[in-house]
Amino acid sequence: MITVIAKPTHDCNLRCGYCYIEPGAERGRMDERTALNVMEGFARHSHDHRAHFIWHGGEPLLCGIAFFEFVADITASLKKRGYHVTNAIQTNGTLLGPDFLDFVSDVDDFRLGFSLDGPQRINDRTRPYATGASSFNDTLRAIRMTRERNSRTRHLGGGVIVVLSKANIADMKQVLQFFNEERIGFKVNPLIRSGRARHGEYDIDPTEAAAALHDLFNYWMQSDSMVSVDPFVDFIGSVASGCSVGCNHAGNCRERYVSVGPLGDIYPCGRFDGVKSMWMGNVNTPNGVTDAYGSSVHQRLLGRNAKNILECSDCVVSDQCKGGCLHNAWTAGDALGKDPYCPMYHRLFTHVRAVLQKELRNAEVGNET
Ligand SMILES: C[S@@+](CC[C@H](N)C(=O)[O-])C[C@H]1O[C@@H](n2cnc3c(N)ncnc32)[C@H](O)[C@@H]1O
Repeated sequence: MITVIAKPTHDCNLRCGYCYIEPGAERGRMDERTALNVMEGFARHSHDHRAHFIWHGGEPLLCGIAFFEFVADITASLKKRGYHVTNAIQTNGTLLGPDFLDFVSDVDDFRLGFSLDGPQRINDRTRPYATGASSFNDTLRAIRMTRERNSRTRHLGGGVIVVLSKANIADMKQVLQFFNEERIGFKVNPLIRSGRARHGEYDIDPTEAAAALHDLFNYWMQSDSMVSVDPFVDFIGSVASGCSVGCNHAGNCRERYVSVGPLGDIYPCGRFDGVKSMWMGNVNTPNGVTDAYGSSVHQRLLGRNAKNILECSDCVVSDQCKGGCLHNAWTAGDALGKDPYCPMYHRLFTHVRAVLQKELRNAEVGNET
């Protein structure tokens, strides 16, 4: 399966202080021809005819319901031709109204993901509207409305991304308590150092991030939390099954993930949009998708592998970690090199493995008595 981060616009009604979008990212809105070429092109390229489109941005709901109705029509048409196509929308939720929720509830292959950095006191530090006003209540309203629909119709998703940054690293317990009370599952993504986040204001040290997530994991395990928290669930799955999950630990993300901007430019991932040296092609050219996979950028990045990264060669968690993220590595100077969050992955994978082994031993002793 291929996962396409499709960005119908980079425009946004929020001004998150750490937004990773590069100043040179494509402007404008995706038109229908581009959306058609994105979906047809990547579904056809996928070797097992499976494609998952994450409509991202910028704020994708600025593109309006008609754009997503068109996406639903293409999805239906691809399905009729034997492709397995699913969609997700990653949104700040502020523009989500009942009409949009009705539409998503009626089509069977759209799920919603939100972004919120914690309770209002914490979220207001990083995710204001362009006017400077708080966006907290509008996002939370959208998440609650989606959860309410989940209990009545099919499951529409509704999990949240929390960015771990200097603004909330000391408050992660309160973040967990808040999402526990709201019964919202979440995923913690450490700060990416690009776009506005390159200024350093929200920077976290990878060792500090490791300590914060180690403590959060312990607190989550001890608190009988009913909500799913990533990357912990993913890490537990990876340690237990031996199969890695998520783009950061995919081994090489190149075959399974790709991104397209509003005007059809293809990049290895959504974080690179606007970085000319990472441009792979454009979906609106003849053979655009095929050419992108033949591009020198793609061919070079295919060589990124834990086996080729010096620091990974004798690492005890390299089977799970697989070298981390090439974009993070690029922000540190070499896309083929070490991910600067390496100390965080090392500490978390080692800790999760030790906790699981202990639980397993306890279960075995319990079975013997
Ligand atoms: C760029 S936004 C686009 C989609 C949508 N507007 C939203 O808020 O979900 C996607 C996600 O990236 C996160 N994000 C933005 N800048 C980031 C950074 N520097 N590091 C890590 N995550 C970041 C946002 O908080 C959000 O969860």
